Amino acid sequence: MGLCFAKIKKADQGCGAARLICPCLSCYAVRLDKWMTNYIYFGDNLELLRRISDASIPLIYIDPPFNSGKQQSRTQIRTVRDPEGRRKGFMGSSYRTEEIGTKQYADTFDDYEGFIRPRLEEAYRVLAPNGSLYFHIDYREVHYCKIWLDQIFGRDSFINEIIWAYDYGGKPRKKWPAKHDNILYYVKNPDDYVFNVDDIDREPYMAPGLVGPEKAERGKLPTDTWWWSIVGTNSKERNGYPTQKPLGILNRIIRASSNQGDVVLDFFAGSGTTGESCLKLGRKFILMDNNIEAMEVMAKRFAAAVDDIEWENYKPEASVQSGHDFNTE
Ligand SMILES: C[S@@+](CC[C@H](N)C(=O)[O-])C[C@H]1O[C@@H](n2cnc3c(N)ncnc32)[C@H](O)[C@@H]1O
Repeated sequence: MGLCFAKIKKADQGCGAARLICPCLSCYAVRLDKWMTNYIYFGDNLELLRRISDASIPLIYIDPPFNSGKQQSRTQIRTVRDPEGRRKGFMGSSYRTEEIGTKQYADTFDDYEGFIRPRLEEAYRVLAPNGSLYFHIDYREVHYCKIWLDQIFGRDSFINEIIWAYDYGGKPRKKWPAKHDNILYYVKNPDDYVFNVDDIDREPYMAPGLVGPEKAERGKLPTDTWWWSIVGTNSKERNGYPTQKPLGILNRIIRASSNQGDVVLDFFAGSGTTGESCLKLGRKFILMDNNIEAMEVMAKRFAAAVDDIEWENYKPEASVQSGHDFNTE
């Protein structure tokens, strides 16, 4: 648990432990401090959002439950050599498949607006004057969410609808297969916001022959349609959490809409993709999730960065068996 700053009138009056987040629900005296650490919170996000100071967060990315009406679930498997196994591999070896666990969370809401609206209102309140919000959702709810966000931010603050397109998995034969997610991008002030166009990763031209070799070599700026593969079952990136998002998508958002040392908030953190991107790109993070399985995945994912993270309501030591290193760019 962090310290209570209710008695500190100015957070910079010599208190080396000052933090952005105050556990005292009535105190908003705490401001963003350069010594702030990364932070992971286990619990309902609305409660913690209410403890973050006004206008303090440069970038928010959220990927809430999509209200798909399903239980989101992913079972992890491994293959083990077994002469009796039914799978055939390299040089005719036989393997069997073992289940090593299932991670899941509920994704059904009777009143999705009643759930998401107060959290979006908090997001607006805590966003810095030149800050940005990226809201990740899918085609079933995006229209409603756009209206709620327009009401909270103002229509002028809507900058883009990014389409993340992929092509993976089964295809129904009675309709166009839905193979995209929607990311709504809003800023607090459309006349003053961070957008580091020169830091954005570039893509190959579709027709490189139509541009000069120099341009072709440099690649082009992405548009609002991002073709990016989902995290494949056999990918090294895969961590077993259902609805894990690709690191490349988060890297692109964080590079474009925040600066080195900025704090990025993700209050539906899941497996912590936002946190991994922040570690790589030199940003700080605040992550929240109310699912113990998300905590377990993050504890492993961030094992190598354990001294740089403060956890609340959860002890990561128990879950950590393995981790991986973060190469900073
Ligand atoms: C779509 S997943 C996020 C996946 C994440 N972007 C990733 O790359 O792994 C949504 C997450 O929101 C969490 N969640 C749902 N309701 C919440 C609440 N009220 N407070 C905190 N977390 C919540 C769920 O447990 C789930 O992990």
